[in-house]
Amino acid sequence: MSINAKRKVWGVFLAVFTAIAMIYAADEGTKQPPVAEHDSLSQFTIEQLAKFNGKNGNPAYVAVDSVVYDVTKVKAWKNGEHKRGLKAGNDLSQQILKSPHGKKVLKNLPVVGRLVPTIKADSASAVTPKKELKPQKAPGEK
Ligand code: HEM
Repeated sequence: MSINAKRKVWGVFLAVFTAIAMIYAADEGTKQPPVAEHDSLSQFTIEQLAKFNGKNGNPAYVAVDSVVYDVTKVKAWKNGEHKRGLKAGNDLSQQILKSPHGKKVLKNLPVVGRLVPTIKADSASAVTPKKELKPQKAPGEK
């Protein structure tokens, strides 16, 4: 092979290599940074948790000490119902203290989120103006 032909082969090789490297670099740039596990979990208010009652195809979640657990696949929680009329979709932090098994049953359950306090509408009153707002008149209106 002549020197020129060798140069050409190397040129093509370098161009292909550079192109592949650039594609990889661009892909790296679009990747999301890893998120800490607790950050990627959902937050549930008690009202939102209530929907996860194990009925009508909904998953069955229970909260204990602000941690929301998935009991959908637990036999003892079939249809979101447990012993003594206990139901999924609730905060059962107090009830579990009275159970024969205690909190040890929680350690193998999937954690799906955290229970957070509900922010009530009137707690925003601190930022709403004290004065009553008068309805604005349209231009030309008396
Ligand atoms: C998350 C909140 C939970 C609460 C508040 C709770 C509460 C209770 C209570 C009060 C009983 C006694 C019923 C009776 O006296 O007949 C009981 C029994 C039982 N629970 Fe739970 N439970 C919870 C979670 C679980 C989970 C996640 C499992 C399974 C993974 C489980 C499995 C059982 C079983 C097998 C029994 C009957 C046997 C026993 O007495 O240990 N429970 N539970």
